[in-house]
Amino acid sequence: MRIRLEETTDWTALCAIYSAAFGQLAEADLVRDMHDDGDLILSLIAYDDKPAGHIAYSRLILLGTPSIKAAVLAPLAVTPSFQKQGIGAALVQDGLKRLTEKDYDLVLVLGEPHYYGRFGFDPKLAEKLKTPYDGPYLQGLALSDRGKGAHGPVSYAQAFAELE
Ligand SMILES: CC(C)(COP(=O)(O)OP(=O)(O)OC[C@H]1O[C@@H](n2cnc3c(N)ncnc32)[C@H](O)[C@@H]1OP(=O)(O)O)[C@@H](O)C(=O)NCCC(=O)NCCS
Repeated sequence: MRIRLEETTDWTALCAIYSAAFGQLAEADLVRDMHDDGDLILSLIAYDDKPAGHIAYSRLILLGTPSIKAAVLAPLAVTPSFQKQGIGAALVQDGLKRLTEKDYDLVLVLGEPHYYGRFGFDPKLAEKLKTPYDGPYLQGLALSDRGKGAHGPVSYAQAFAELE
């Protein structure tokens, strides 16, 4: 299994991954819309002999602390036949490494704390932010000391509003 940057020719594979994992294409459409809007920071695809998983990170503007560079992790999916083999974890960690190299300070995710807690995501870090997704499933991970100081309202990529 290897992880690489998604390319335009991966669209069919990406749709197959999301369709198999979620039974719908709303998440694939989210990736396409974020790309079209220029809000996609990182889009990674995991391949074995077939496409196995995908993850996207998009821009997040912290209106209260705009000098802090932040991103949102979403969506993430692994094709059911490839699940529970560490591919989801490899996609998350590869993405976090690349964002650290690009000097990002903070990443937010909305998801199961049981899953994301293993990477260091913590609901406490997200409590100081005001987002459309406030609650126990919203978690933050500081990639730098600056990231720990994030607070106040945030602006997600426009495509998230269109998803609801
Ligand atoms: C969630 C998902 C991306 C994990 O990918 P994966 O490659 O199977 O995950 P890994 O192999 O890295 O890790 C497996 C662990 O994830 C846990 N896990 C899988 N799906 C989970 C879920 N929806 N909620 C909580 N934990 C989950 C497994 O129980 C396992 O836990 P363990 O290590 O304690 O046994 C994958 O199961 C998936 O695509 N699910 C459907 C889509 C989805 O729910 N996406 C997440 C959006 S936030």
